Amino acid sequence: MRLTALDVENYRNIRAAHFEPGAELTVVCGDNGQGKTNLLEAVWLLTGSKSFRGAKDAELVREGEDFAAVTGELESGGAACRVRVAIAGERSGRRGRTAQKNGVDYGRATNLAGTFTAVVFEPGHLSLVKGSPEGRRKFVDAALCQLYPGYLAALRRYQRAMTQKNALLKQMGRGADEGLLDVFDDAMAAAGEEMMRRRGAYLAMLAPRAEALYDEISSGREALRVRYEATCAPGGLREALSEARRRDAAAGFCTAGPHREDVTITVDGREAKSFASQGQKRSAALSLKLAEAAVAADVLSEHPVMLLDDVLSELDEARQDYLLSRIAGRQTIVTACDPGLFERTNGRIYRMEAGVLTAL
Ligand SMILES: Nc1ncnc2c1ncn2[C@@H]1O[C@H](COP(=O)(O)OP(=O)(O)OP(=O)(O)O)[C@@H](O)[C@H]1O
Ligand SMILES: [Mg+2]
Repeated sequence: MRLTALDVENYRNIRAAHFEPGAELTVVCGDNGQGKTNLLEAVWLLTGSKSFRGAKDAELVREGEDFAAVTGELESGGAACRVRVAIAGERSGRRGRTAQKNGVDYGRATNLAGTFTAVVFEPGHLSLVKGSPEGRRKFVDAALCQLYPGYLAALRRYQRAMTQKNALLKQMGRGADEGLLDVFDDAMAAAGEEMMRRRGAYLAMLAPRAEALYDEISSGREALRVRYEATCAPGGLREALSEARRRDAAAGFCTAGPHREDVTITVDGREAKSFASQGQKRSAALSLKLAEAAVAADVLSEHPVMLLDDVLSELDEARQDYLLSRIAGRQTIVTACDPGLFERTNGRIYRMEAGVLTAL
């Protein structure tokens, strides 16, 4: 997948910008608050998803304007395609994001899913390493939902059964029908086994790639290990749920199952969350995101565009060099404050100043 050109209109602090990223690395430099992340966010909107910063659509429209638009020229498998996403502002009376593909109305922007594939890394993703298991489960689940449409259905079936079981567990001893617990366990086990099978297969693809990428980023100085902590062996979920019954009743909720699983991340054998340095955590989170893109490339037979926001801070020179010069064969757009990067990359360079983008 490649973005050959991007035109941005009235997007956040950008009145108008034309951007032509290179085939491999492009660096967007500029001081704080100039619009670098805004530009990356505009590229991301071409995927059809909402802002990766969690902003509401109306907030994306430049103050005082009625609408914003982002138009991208894409190249995928030798074919060119033009995608336009329009965002309605607060005053326009309309709502949300709508799309056009090759000049034809396409309805809601979410209909674009799959047209433009990208993986974004932003500072908040550090929580993949630092945060709770929930964030890691969400990361794996989101990747699986993109790769396998059936995964979301299994996830929803599991969650529905669990919600019902939790409600029942809260009424235990007050005349609740305990036989129903078996019914919910059956449903949770059926959907949960499918989730565990997919998660296991995904981690089997993701972990070796993330580990190899970390090895490259750290020039072999440290070793990353990524491991899926499954509830039980395949086929064992129904039994594991039965075994947890007493604990569930005491707790008043389901204490075992895929909703409690985790992915452990270690650097040199120690849990990264509590032992790794800031730069090591960042390197680990980055390796996971780059690995996510590599797995997507294998499954979809095309490498997604990499959008790396503020990834260079906290990395030492060798690690920055890896990102600035050794990312080959995949389009990568990096934002950075440090103008000294100019000399260290052969990638294309842009400067962002008060919403005005200039090629250097
Ligand atoms: N809807 C909007 N209309 C006008 N300006 C906006 C809008 N939304 C955000 N901005 C402005 O965009 C600027 C922030 O841009 P952005 O987050 O892209 O900065 P950045 O270059 O990534 O900075 P940093 O290096 O600190 O991450 C702020 O000055 C903010 O006021
Ligand atoms: Mg920024």
